[in-house]
Amino acid sequence: MMQSKKVIVTGAAGGIGLSTARRFAKAGANVLGLDRKPGVISIGNDTPNLTGLCCDLTNVRQIKSALEGFLADSGVDVLVNNAGINPSPSSLTDTPEALWLRLLETNLTATYRVTKAVMRHMQCGVIINISSVLALSGANKNAAYAATKGAIVSLTRAMARDHGPAIRVNCVCPGAVETEMFEEYLCRCDDPVLERRRIRGSLPLQRLGKPEDIAEAVFFLASDSASWITGQVLVVDGGDYA
Ligand SMILES: NC(=O)c1ccc[n+]([C@@H]2O[C@H](COP(=O)([O-])OP(=O)(O)OC[C@H]3O[C@@H](n4cnc5c(N)ncnc54)[C@H](O)[C@@H]3O)[C@@H](O)[C@H]2O)c1
Repeated sequence: MMQSKKVIVTGAAGGIGLSTARRFAKAGANVLGLDRKPGVISIGNDTPNLTGLCCDLTNVRQIKSALEGFLADSGVDVLVNNAGINPSPSSLTDTPEALWLRLLETNLTATYRVTKAVMRHMQCGVIINISSVLALSGANKNAAYAATKGAIVSLTRAMARDHGPAIRVNCVCPGAVETEMFEEYLCRCDDPVLERRRIRGSLPLQRLGKPEDIAEAVFFLASDSASWITGQVLVVDGGDYA
C-alpha cells in the first residue's frame, strides 16, 4: 500500500521523526527526511529508500533547495510535519519576545512553508501534523509552546476543509514520549528520576511513550485504512488526556 509512495518527514534526525521515517521506509515508501542536524544525512545508510538531507526549516532558501530534487520528477503522497522545539518552557509573562518568535517560526511557520511548497506537487495525498497533548490540556509554564501546538490543531482542521477530497489532513497529539525533547524536559526538573516515575505512574497505560507509538499512529493516518478520516486530532498519550 505504501510501496513506492513518496513521503517527506521533517525533524527526522531523531525521536518521533526518525521513527516515522523508518516506519514508512520499512513499508516500501521512498522517504525523504529533513532536519537541521547534520546527523540526518546518515539516517538512510542501511536503507536505500530512506534519504536524509540537512535543512533548517526556518530558512526559506534551504527548504527550497532540500525539496527540489525530491519533488522534481513526480508528486508527493505523504507529508509529515514533525519538526518542533521547546527550548525554554515558561509562562507568557516570562517568555521573551525572541523566544516567542523562535517557537512560532519553527513550530508553526515552518509547517506553513514546507506544506505550501510540497502541496504544489501533491495532486492527492495525506498531510499529518504533529501537535502535542499540551495543545489541548495546557500545561504550567508552557504558554508559547502550547500556543504553537494549538495553532497546529486549528491549521489541521482548516486545511482539511479547504483541501478535501483530494488531500486528507490530520494531526497527532503525542503525550510524554521518550525522545531528546523529553529528556531535556526531565533535565530541567529538580528530580528527573522522580518526575519520570510520576508521569509514568499517572498514565492509565503505566508507561511512557516510545517514538514508535507515534510513528504507528502517523502511519495509520497516512494509510488507506484511514481513507474516511480527515480534520481529526488523534491523541496518543497512554491515556493521560482520557
Ligand atoms: N517527546 C514528546 O514528549 C513530545 C510530546 C508532544 C509533542 N511532541 C512533538 O513531537 C515532535 C517531535 O519531537 P521529538 O520528541 O521527537 O523531539 P526531538 O527533539 O527528538 O526531535 C525534533 C527534531 O526536530 C528537529 N528540528 C527542530 N527545529 C528544526 C528546524 N528549524 N529545522 C529542521 N529541523 C528541526 C530537531 O533537530 C530534532 O531532530 C515535535 O513537534 C514535538 O513538539 C513531542
